[in-house]
Amino acid sequence: IGSEARSSIGAAQSLDEIEKLRVAYLGKQGSISALLKTLGGMTPDERKEEGPKIHALREEVTAALGARKAELEQAELEQRLAAETLDLSLPAPETPKGSIHPVSQVMDELAEIFADMGFAVATGPEIEDDWHNFAALNMPESHPARAMHDTFYFPQAAGETGANEALDRAGSSARMLLRTHTSPVQVRTMKAQGAPIRIIAPGRVYRSDSDATHTPMFHQVEGLVIDKGIHLGHLKWTLETFLKAFFEREDIVLRLRPSYFPFTEPSVEADVGFAIENGRRVLGGSGDEPGHGWMELLGSGMVNRRVIEMSGLDPDEWQGFAFGVGVDRLAMLKYGMDDLRAFFDGDVRWLRHYGFSP
Ligand code: PHE
Repeated sequence: IGSEARSSIGAAQSLDEIEKLRVAYLGKQGSISALLKTLGGMTPDERKEEGPKIHALREEVTAALGARKAELEQAELEQRLAAETLDLSLPAPETPKGSIHPVSQVMDELAEIFADMGFAVATGPEIEDDWHNFAALNMPESHPARAMHDTFYFPQAAGETGANEALDRAGSSARMLLRTHTSPVQVRTMKAQGAPIRIIAPGRVYRSDSDATHTPMFHQVEGLVIDKGIHLGHLKWTLETFLKAFFEREDIVLRLRPSYFPFTEPSVEADVGFAIENGRRVLGGSGDEPGHGWMELLGSGMVNRRVIEMSGLDPDEWQGFAFGVGVDRLAMLKYGMDDLRAFFDGDVRWLRHYGFSP
């Protein structure tokens, strides 16, 4: 048995084989275990003669199994270490990385520009009620200006009117909608923090409208300043400073044109002058030069005293100006993008084309 065991253990190539050999020799039914059992039937003399030999054999086989097992384990470890070696000089596989969306980028830039002028950032809910979106902005029920907003209203739950006392008391002003502009944040900020105020309010707004220059969801930044003795000159300086910083051009020329918004009085629309270069509109210079033009950019005005009043402030003490500008529009102008819908398609090739993806 001894020499047979030595050669088969030496030839074993895996831990599995070692285990099988252990069972074959030393297991309950193993051949060495069988030899040990024969000791019981021997005479004392025979046992004295055979016992030590069998025990020595068992010892030897146990040791051989252990030694071969250790060898195999060591070999397996070496093989694994060799296989798992890292070549640190190889180029690393490319990990896909995201990038900042142009809309977010522009909102960040605006927040930074206005922070330098002392403006904080305020926010309001996208699901708004009729009162904040319209009524408190001097657009009572049936005001014709409401028709221009293509509002998404939430359906009222069946039986809500009549069953809901609060809603009844508030009438239609509790009706919920997706805000059509960021102007309700003016009202919310005045109510929540009083005066003086210097904020911008960036965010999503919704109107039921869709073509190359309109998407049902788009972005605006509202600006609001409420203080003592604020006048149109402050508005003009603020808009000029912000547009020059945003477009990184000192030659931006602004034209203020009388307009109408129910929540500002007087209301002014701001146009910027542009030139045509290689068939493309490039901002800068007066729009009155030959071959130039004016582009409508944003709505603004002095906050209507009725709005200040409805927002809980005394309009004889506090005045201010407000403006609202389309963020997507600003991004298109700054980065030369021409289809608004592409902003929300989520196509990385489009982002990459305009240098927004690594
Ligand atoms: N809320 C207006 C709009 O969405 C813009 C605006 C804001 C005009 C503030 C005046 C003052 O068209």
